[in-house]
Amino acid sequence: MPDLAPPGAAGLPDIAWLTALANEMFRAPPDSLMPSVPMPVGGFGLAPPSAPLPVGGFGLAPPSAPLPEVPPLGTSVPGEGELRALLGGAPATPVPALPAATSPGAFGGFGLAPLSTPLPDVPSLGTSVPGEADLRALLGGSPAAPVPVVPAAKPAGAFGGFGLAAPSTPLPDVPALGTSVPGEAELRALLGPALDQQAPPAAPASPGTSTPSFYFLEEAGHGVPAFAARPDVAPGPNFDANARRADFPILAERVNGRPLVWLDNGATTQKPRAVIDRLVYFYEHENSNIHRAAHTLAARATDAYEGAREIVRRFLHAGSVDEIVFVRGTTEGINLVAKSWGRRYIGAGDEIVITWLEHHANIVPWQMLCEQTGAKLRVAPVDDDGQVLLDEYGKLLGPRTKLVAFTQVSNALGTITPSHLMTRMAHAVGARVLLDGAQSVSHMRTDVQSIGCDWFVFSGHKVFGPTGIGAVYGRADVLEESPPWQGGGNMIADVTFEHTEYHRPPTRFEAGTGNIGDAVGLGAALEYVEQVGLEAIAAHEHDLLLYATRLLGQIPGLRLLGTAPEKAGVISFVIDGFSSEEIGRALNQDGIAVRAGHHCAQPILRRFGVESSVRASLALYNTHADIDALATAVRRIRSSAPGRF
Ligand code: ALA
Repeated sequence: MPDLAPPGAAGLPDIAWLTALANEMFRAPPDSLMPSVPMPVGGFGLAPPSAPLPVGGFGLAPPSAPLPEVPPLGTSVPGEGELRALLGGAPATPVPALPAATSPGAFGGFGLAPLSTPLPDVPSLGTSVPGEADLRALLGGSPAAPVPVVPAAKPAGAFGGFGLAAPSTPLPDVPALGTSVPGEAELRALLGPALDQQAPPAAPASPGTSTPSFYFLEEAGHGVPAFAARPDVAPGPNFDANARRADFPILAERVNGRPLVWLDNGATTQKPRAVIDRLVYFYEHENSNIHRAAHTLAARATDAYEGAREIVRRFLHAGSVDEIVFVRGTTEGINLVAKSWGRRYIGAGDEIVITWLEHHANIVPWQMLCEQTGAKLRVAPVDDDGQVLLDEYGKLLGPRTKLVAFTQVSNALGTITPSHLMTRMAHAVGARVLLDGAQSVSHMRTDVQSIGCDWFVFSGHKVFGPTGIGAVYGRADVLEESPPWQGGGNMIADVTFEHTEYHRPPTRFEAGTGNIGDAVGLGAALEYVEQVGLEAIAAHEHDLLLYATRLLGQIPGLRLLGTAPEKAGVISFVIDGFSSEEIGRALNQDGIAVRAGHHCAQPILRRFGVESSVRASLALYNTHADIDALATAVRRIRSSAPGRF
């Protein structure tokens, strides 16, 4: 090591000396520079080469430590490596079942249910873009065989126009397949000019599109398959819930050795294959941040995201995509309105009217706004069937009413509110109207223009889409007059240290990187619902609701909560002598999933004199057999404890 040099003019070591020192150090063997300091427990850092990893800490495994074993096939969906091993001619290994674990933890604990069902088959070609496995399966041993192509799908996206795979072109001979799932470049090389020749021209902008394209890339070969295309789905009297069940892989699960009966749709719905495949496709072929980058994946992701916005517009029958804001879900949507429009237009002495039916998400943000502004919260009561007392509601409306916020379907009782009428009554006194559609969108057709509401909010996961994504419809003039509620990237047009200009809606309300992939998944979910047909779904669920009401209503000691003539698929009940949680746990033993608790709607349950209820909530895939299973199990639970009643 060089001797200490005399300090430089500024009292610091001379730069030439420091350089020499650095050179010396980098020539030295690593051990001499990395003393074997024991790692503190819980600390971070590099473990000395031979020291064991500290308890609770993070560090690099010593160089000689064996790599952890890859989990055996069967404990998870096989990844590419596993598929490769299987495809590469290795002898088939028996798939070990996941070992039985702790008891199911639906109530108070979490545990792994024993995996008694085999892993699902890889989706067959035709339902999605073929992956390597599909191509291998198809090509194996017969390289010249024509390969079916991805079916033609919807028109190219409105933003930049991606073409579709040629509908009838067979894949040419495939040379040595690469080491990964074929990407666009590989498919393009294989398909050659056929793609470009046969790619349809970019579709004209959709009717609801008014925002300009965000980028300028043209790409003829990238087409998103029509995952939701189900020509066999016939809305109307031909609706077959049993056939639709096949669209939802999770419904084949077994719970406690019994077939899963999913009656917790008010909490969340299950996801059809169309949504699962769309998410996989997005992350395999499109994933990027959106709007800002001049590269192909940004263009694809932007197309997919803005395409989903157009689907939401169509689903809600909004007039323009500029009226659709993506949010995390209903709760965030209501908070957006409260913190944006509410903070600007609600003041001391103003009144906000809600109903007794509301979910906490449509109560608490308004309470917070009232606390901040000095406004007053007023609540329209309901009758003993759970219907809003319209006379009382009318009496609450007046010149002070600035906002009315109510649910279209009660999550705890199922009551369908007269949203057209209540909106007109509110508008008659000059109030704005927010409609909570969380529990309605999967059960009935939504038409925000016909209702005339100022905002409509819903969550994707309650309409067969992913969690963490939802949307706010806001009428164009209302969004225009609303300030941003969160600041950051994406929502700005120009930033200086002195001043920021905001984008127009909807971008103004989408600060930061949003949930791009799940927005795309939501689009697929809504397309799926459109294809099944909301009228068919509503008719089917109504039939089930009547059946369930009759069957459960005959059980002695069982009280139904919410008996409004206009109801969506919710059956809420209590049983004398049993707690709701106890019933929920017992039903789970039979593989039946219901919600037991206060359903985040304590005021309405208290209106009926209870703190909790058992809630069975329906979706399009429920059947009469599900209701039979529920009623049979409830009877058995009740008769198992005769001393209680
Ligand atoms: N809001 C959801 C429900 O009603 C969680 O269950």
